[in-house]
Amino acid sequence: MVKVPTQLVTWDDIVNWSQGLANVIKKAGYRPDIIIAVSRGGYVPARLLCDFLLVENLISLQSQHWTEAAKVAEKAIIKFPYRVDLSGLRALLVDDIVDTGDTLILARDFIISEWKPAELKIAALQWISPVAKIKPDFYYIEVKEWVWFQYPWTRLEDTIQFLRRILREESGSKKVWTAQELKDRFLEYYGIYVGDTYFNLALETLVETGYLAKSEEKLYIVK
Ligand code: ADE
Repeated sequence: MVKVPTQLVTWDDIVNWSQGLANVIKKAGYRPDIIIAVSRGGYVPARLLCDFLLVENLISLQSQHWTEAAKVAEKAIIKFPYRVDLSGLRALLVDDIVDTGDTLILARDFIISEWKPAELKIAALQWISPVAKIKPDFYYIEVKEWVWFQYPWTRLEDTIQFLRRILREESGSKKVWTAQELKDRFLEYYGIYVGDTYFNLALETLVETGYLAKSEEKLYIVK
């Protein structure tokens, strides 16, 4: 059994899912004048939807989880709460996934009250129905059991975090690793492999940032 159920998503998946999502939106008869990408996860799907729906106007809003100092619970915040006038426009808010839905709810409420579009609908490639607090107007895949989707635009970031978790959890008993041992443990924890390029880049980054030291024998040592 893996520790974190993870699914590797390819660029081809993303293009196919975005095209599928565009068809759902077209079939429903919604014709947005402007697309708003939820930053950062919504950027790529939003850009592809612009292409598949022939929408020229694309802007973004950064809504993200923020861990407050000394607090365990994460809070959603709008990072750069700038103002634009969307009156008279039909808008489509796009994200990659609706997980808890907290960041999307915050973005939606901010846009309605501050940007005042004539209409606002929400689209996401994936919707984790058992945990989400909102259902997007349009989605392509309903996920019925929670999984971490390893999207191609967070390949390095996720791999670094995944490795840090392994190193942290095992640090009580093991502080010196070969690359192969880490690869094997990665597969045990997450059930996926991200490929040598990303895996090696993640290891090098952990060395550069001082989290790991690399010996002449190519052993990785937790500092
Ligand atoms: N962002 C928030 N929830 C996620 C999930 N389950 N998979 C990938 N990215 C996410």
